[in-house]
Amino acid sequence: MSDAADADDLHFVASADDLPPGDRLVVDVENREIALFNLDGDYYGLSNYCVHQGGPACEGRLGGLLVETDDELRYDRRGEIVSCPWHGWEFDVKTGSHVARPDQYRLPTYEVLESDGDLYVRF
Ligand code: FES
Repeated sequence: MSDAADADDLHFVASADDLPPGDRLVVDVENREIALFNLDGDYYGLSNYCVHQGGPACEGRLGGLLVETDDELRYDRRGEIVSCPWHGWEFDVKTGSHVARPDQYRLPTYEVLESDGDLYVRF
């Protein structure tokens, strides 16, 4: 937040204390519903409007991925994949991309910044 032009794009959304690691928080900012995630101290913001049929995309189960290698099947990226509660479409919290069809579907993302214990989104 070093210059006025940047500050104009920032919207206060919450105190960082309200979003501990592993948690999420859905906020309304100027008619946009945005889900905030804290993954081990890194913040991510996604539109909460599902690109399938408009469900609350970021309010479902928060889990990971089954990854198959040559000799094993393991559970990876725990807490980084969110499932829309309406029909189960899964999205990558870090990128907004649909897990199975990343080139086809994606939730809009928002930059989340922390300053002096407060969280802001930029748009
Ligand atoms: S509305 Fe989200 S999966 Fe259908």
